[in-house]
Parts: sequence; structure tokens; C-alpha cells
Amino acid sequence: MSALVGLFVGLSLVGLVSSAKFDELFQPSWALDHFTYEGELLRLKLDNYSGAGFQSKSKYLFGKVTVQIKLVEGDSAGTVTAFYMSSDGPTHNEFDFEFLGNSTGEPYLVQTNVYVNGVGNREQRLNLWFDPTKDFHSYSFLWNQRHVVFLVDETPIRLHTNMENKGIPYPKDQPMGVYSSIWNADDWATQGGRVKTDWSHAPFVASYKGFEIAACEVPASVTSADSAKNCSSNGERRYWWDEPTLSELSSHQSHQLLWVKANHMVYDYCTDTARFPVPPVECLHHHH
Ligand SMILES: *[C@@H]1O[C@H](CO)[C@@H](O)[C@H](O)[C@H]1NC(C)=O
Ligand SMILES: *[C@@H]1O[C@H](CO)[C@@H](O)[C@H](O)[C@H]1NC(C)=O
Ligand SMILES: *[C@@H]1O[C@H](CO)[C@@H](O)[C@H](O)[C@H]1NC(C)=O
Repeated sequence: MSALVGLFVGLSLVGLVSSAKFDELFQPSWALDHFTYEGELLRLKLDNYSGAGFQSKSKYLFGKVTVQIKLVEGDSAGTVTAFYMSSDGPTHNEFDFEFLGNSTGEPYLVQTNVYVNGVGNREQRLNLWFDPTKDFHSYSFLWNQRHVVFLVDETPIRLHTNMENKGIPYPKDQPMGVYSSIWNADDWATQGGRVKTDWSHAPFVASYKGFEIAACEVPASVTSADSAKNCSSNGERRYWWDEPTLSELSSHQSHQLLWVKANHMVYDYCTDTARFPVPPVECLHHHH
């Protein structure tokens, strides 16, 4: 599935792997009997027996990963639908979208998090500017050497910048798989765990389509060090995600992110002084 995406000042600008078919990129990881396929649509079901989850067949280092999701309609209280990227092992890196369900008519919350070298605790929460249960919307990670950008319908909602120059570790040498799942999390998800899953409203169904991975694919046999080398632009090879235009947000995107923070963010670990009397280092350096 590799493709030559374009040419850039005489160097080949390589993209690699982009597809819309679930089967080409992903496989169920558990509860196959809770999957339904309907043409391009995939549905995952949560009931009182099981949730369900899928994962990419390959791992990737840098690029962009997008899925379109339509979240559980009606009563989704207690349920969590997650879309995330993660590497393996105790010092893993992870980028998370977690969609926290709610009672009928009450808004979904989106919790995001970033783990670096096994350490998370970087939660942000926002509500959305649309009802994510009515239609499909796209959710993406854009990841390169400079930053990780979380996007909702191409609007940036979170920026995690590489601040290695300030001594802060950045996820850049562990290939990551792409995952999604739906499960019961009524011990914490909805209103802090006060609202429980009402199983009389099961099954809870999340729908997916439009799977796209345009990223540097890392074969399982390749070591992390080699994949970091392979997936970096050099004299002969330029990956599109290393283009200067993608090394920072455009001014339009910066404004969009400010708008999201001002109007839709309901929690930011950076400003939680009860939890972090000394703000995490990366928060001190974040300027947009
Ligand atoms: C699951 O829910 C169904 C329908 O409400 C019920 O008949 C069944 O006993 C439940 N099973 C378990 C394991 O709780
Ligand atoms: C659920 O709805 C309540 C009431 O509108 C809101 O306070 C809460 O943030 C919503 N989301 C979750 C996940 O609890
Ligand atoms: C990385 O390099 C190795 C050895 O040079 C090669 O076999 C492998 O296919 C490369 N992988 C990618 C993703 O380019």
C-alpha cells in the first residue's frame, strides 16, 4: 500500500499507507461476536457480557491517523469509547481520545491524554461544538518530530510540543499501534462515577468508517532504532509530515486551538493546582 505522494524540490516526498478499508489496516482484538460489518461501516457493541476492541495490524512512527466515529446514541452513561495510539512495554508512549458517555440529552465529554515513557497524568477534557452521536466526525492524530496534534474535524483541540531542548522527553522513537475499543467504565466515566451504566439500554453501539493511516509503517521485525532512522527525512527522502508547514500550527489553527480552549475545555491538568501544586514543566513552557 505504499504510495508516492508527490515531489518536493527534486526529492521524493513519501507518504505511505492510506486506506479506507477496515480489513486492510485493522483487525479485531477481542470479542469478535460484538462486531458488525455493514459495507464500509463497522459497529462495535457493548453489552453486559462484553465490550469490543480492534487494533492496527502494523505499528507506525510519525504521520497522520484518522477515523470517523459516530458515538453511542441516547443513553451512553457509564460507557467509554476510546481511540488511541500506543507503543508496547513499561516505558510506552500513548496518545488518547476517550469519549465519556452520558445520560440521554447530556453532552459527551472528550478526555485526551499523552503518555511519555510510561507516564501519563496529562488529562484534558472538553465538550464538543456538535452532538457526536448524531453524525460521523473525524478524529485524528498528526504526529511528527515537532509535535503531536489532536484534531476533531481538522480543528486542533490539543497540541503536545517537542520540548526536548528544555530537557522534557518527547515520544519519537517507539513505533505505535492504533487502537479503538468500547467498554464499561461506570466506576469513573460519567459525572465522576455517580451515574452508572443502565444495562436495560444495552447494546451500546459505536459506529466507525473512513479509516485512514498515512504514516511510516514499521515492520514488526525492525528495531526501534532502525525504525526511527527509517522514518526520518534525510537527504534522499522527505516525508510529508516533516515539511516545514507542518512543523508548527498555522495561525488559523492556532486561533482555532485558542477558541477550543476558551469555549470548550472544561479541564486542563496544566491549571489543576490542587493536583499539581508545582505545575508540570511542559505547562510552564507552553506558549501559542
Ligand atoms: C444481560 O442482560 C440481559 C438482558 O437485560 C439479561 O437477560 C441477562 O441475564 C444479563 N446477563 C448477565 C450476565 O448479566
Ligand atoms: C454529563 O452531563 C453532566 C450534566 O450536563 C455534565 O456535568 C458532565 O460533564 C457530562 N459528562 C460526563 C462524562 O460526566
Ligand atoms: C527500514 O530499513 C530496513 C533495513 O534497511 C528495511 O528492511 C525496512 O524495510 C525499512 N522499513 C521501512 C519502514 O522503511
